[in-house]
Amino acid sequence: MEELTSFAKRRGFIFQASEIYGGIGGFWDLGPYGVELAQNIKQSWWRHFVNRNFNVVGLDSTIIQHPRLWQASGHVDTFVDPMVDCKACKHRFRADHVAGEDTNDLDKLATALADKACPNCGEKGTFTEPRQFNMMFKTHVGPVEDTGSTTYLRPETAGGIFAQYDNVRETTRAKLPFGIAQIGKAFRNEITPGDFIFRLRELTQMELEVFVKPDEAEKWYEFWKQYCMEWVQSIGLKADHIRLHDHADDERAHYAAASVDIQFEYPFGFKELYGIANRTDYDLSAHAKESGKDLSYFDEETKQRYVPYVIEPSVGVERLLMAVLLDAYDEEQVDGDTRVVLRFTPEIAPVKIAVLPLSKRPELSELSREIFKEIAGDWRVEYDETQSIGRRYRRQDEIGTPYCVTIDFDSLEDKAVTVRDRDSMQQERIAISELKSYLTQKLS
Ligand code: GAP
Repeated sequence: MEELTSFAKRRGFIFQASEIYGGIGGFWDLGPYGVELAQNIKQSWWRHFVNRNFNVVGLDSTIIQHPRLWQASGHVDTFVDPMVDCKACKHRFRADHVAGEDTNDLDKLATALADKACPNCGEKGTFTEPRQFNMMFKTHVGPVEDTGSTTYLRPETAGGIFAQYDNVRETTRAKLPFGIAQIGKAFRNEITPGDFIFRLRELTQMELEVFVKPDEAEKWYEFWKQYCMEWVQSIGLKADHIRLHDHADDERAHYAAASVDIQFEYPFGFKELYGIANRTDYDLSAHAKESGKDLSYFDEETKQRYVPYVIEPSVGVERLLMAVLLDAYDEEQVDGDTRVVLRFTPEIAPVKIAVLPLSKRPELSELSREIFKEIAGDWRVEYDETQSIGRRYRRQDEIGTPYCVTIDFDSLEDKAVTVRDRDSMQQERIAISELKSYLTQKLS
């Protein structure tokens, strides 16, 4: 983990937020390559989950919503994690983590904690009784900080989707099954953030809420489970690093009838990457009750009225980005040297092409800049003319750039360039006039 964290920093993927002030737990910034990688992951998700499904549309709802929304959704009362303190060293922990039990049941946890030693100071039998801690960040809307002005930063993007369900259905004239997708920030005051960007306090979710006929919920649950499994592999996760984990009764969120995780094998073991849940009619019914607005659906086929069920695939961009980074990372021996290479798929590689003039001589720079301008609008392209060509290739390998285009003195005569493939390191001479279509084909 330390290696990954320092590599991600050194290569400009991920920086600690407020690092110059010593950092702030659970908050990380995306650097120049991290932001491109995240952008590509989000675009791929949008292409696969929105564009490729004729019945899915997008939404961008606000981070702060009416506080009654979180009351209705159950988050005010039940979005809690069990917390425990060590009386000896005053450290605070997630009770389920220390107990080694995947449950929220305080009695079960208290029993399991009785003979556990504190992970920080090693003392035994020094834990307080476990208690529940609400993870929503509170804030106030307006200048008066009284209870009437208390609001929350959303703990999931889904809430905004449910609140706009009826507007979207009406304006798009959607019939079941249909989905609403959203990408956006969510906030959770995690008791123990950590494992780099695995457990964050500010995260980005990509969520899809699919509204279905109640008796088709199981079918769609299976469908989206497989769809998600296929998609994460298409962006580079290895089949033997992912597995499905069905939730037991005491693992499920308060709103779910069934849920399954796609787990990824992180350096600290198989952990939740993606959650797929059958939220039943829990949310729409709860919001209908709290708001007084009828959110039922009239089925023109069967002439019946019912509240749709919801199937929800939900994933955090950062957790996925970390998995993608881990599975792309490779080291190999080349000429007695270690070559570090990120084997990103072309679709998600932060930089697609590097344009590298062999020397800084003006005649080469001029041609190289022309080539850069020709291709840079279509892809993220880097221009680099410093250091030896070998070192520049290695630098591009380390950020996972699939193709390097080298312009040499022959290029001035034969109007051709050398294209180097990141994975095979093979080089091919390509006419400049053919370069764009060659790269288009390679990167598609
Ligand atoms: N709307 C459903 C929902 O929010 P969740 O299982 O709590 O369900 C969904 O979260 C996904 O969001 C997780 O599978 C994970 O990828 C990501 N996620 C949740 N909490 C996170 C955290 N503290 N840090 C990073 N990612 C997180």
